[in-house]
Amino acid sequence: MIPTIEWKNGRVFMIDQRKLPFEEVFVEHTCYKNVADSIKKMVIRGAPAIGVAAAMGVALGISNLDDSENDPGGIFNEIIRVLGGTRPTAVNLFWALEEMKKVFKTHQTDIRLLKEKILEKALEIKNNDEKINRDIGKIGEIVLKKGDTVLTHCNAGSLATAGYGTALGVIRSANSSGKNISVIAGETRPFLQGARLTVWEMQKENIPVTLITDSMAGYLMSKGDIDLVIVGADRIALNGDTANKIGTYSIAVLTKFHNIPFYVAAPLSTIDPDSKSGLEIPIEERPGSEVRNFHGSQITPSNTQVYNPAFDITPFELITGIITENGIIRTDPEKKIKNMLKKKEY
Ligand code: MRU
Repeated sequence: MIPTIEWKNGRVFMIDQRKLPFEEVFVEHTCYKNVADSIKKMVIRGAPAIGVAAAMGVALGISNLDDSENDPGGIFNEIIRVLGGTRPTAVNLFWALEEMKKVFKTHQTDIRLLKEKILEKALEIKNNDEKINRDIGKIGEIVLKKGDTVLTHCNAGSLATAGYGTALGVIRSANSSGKNISVIAGETRPFLQGARLTVWEMQKENIPVTLITDSMAGYLMSKGDIDLVIVGADRIALNGDTANKIGTYSIAVLTKFHNIPFYVAAPLSTIDPDSKSGLEIPIEERPGSEVRNFHGSQITPSNTQVYNPAFDITPFELITGIITENGIIRTDPEKKIKNMLKKKEY
């Protein structure tokens, strides 16, 4: 599997997801501001991957400090502010920054040790993420039977995480147990994460994948061509309401009508206990140019007014289960989430 993000020789490398699947190019970062820019411009995307990138951005910012710096507080706050201002919905970003703040608080008086500990934490967040995804995969594959066809939306794969993926991790795990799962990938307008990234990932592993445009999902369901839906998440509220890529809610509504199970796969770091319901989740709005153009070609007059929310909210009542590394939440989300978060150790 091609790494999504890596720390090598004091630099951060990311595969440029804007260029996939046509070019496999790595972007090198030597400064936290470049990392922030890459998150904003979606060189790297997907909630867990954004969290890892933010942690590495902090590590890069701190590693560039002079060893004689005796008051790193100001620059540290600036690093957090810049990275925290990149993408508002993916809560893993803020979760990772909180983790980095704890390390800073403990070690801020010893700059050399601070550099070491901050980097250690960033690498731990990255390594844990892949391990957690493998756990999600093992736990989640129970919902799949041999020969199932699964619809997924956006890209919740290896590229959206530090490796293996959440929704695609469940499919990978089922296929390594010999379940022969086939994937239907929704194209995912406007950024085409499904067409460009999910298809690319599945093809690399010879997992059968068929691409559809987003509006085709209902027709396939009506014909009985989809056994189950699994998607990732950008932020899950305490009541189980889930923010994910725009279009997810429409798919969830369709599954209700067609009586098809709808699962969300996500690590506990995607749960935001401070958002009581989906109403409290901020939804990122992206530039109109992403909609006015289709993969580089303009498709409407340049002055067309556009609304481009990047995410939507699926209420918990439409979700069959939320697959986490600690088990599947099917009922009583608030109680179960609180219990899971209490036990969580990083
Ligand atoms: O705008 P993106 O590409 O960052 O949106 C990504 C998604 O919506 C994913 O489904 C979500 O982050 C889960 S990734 C494991």
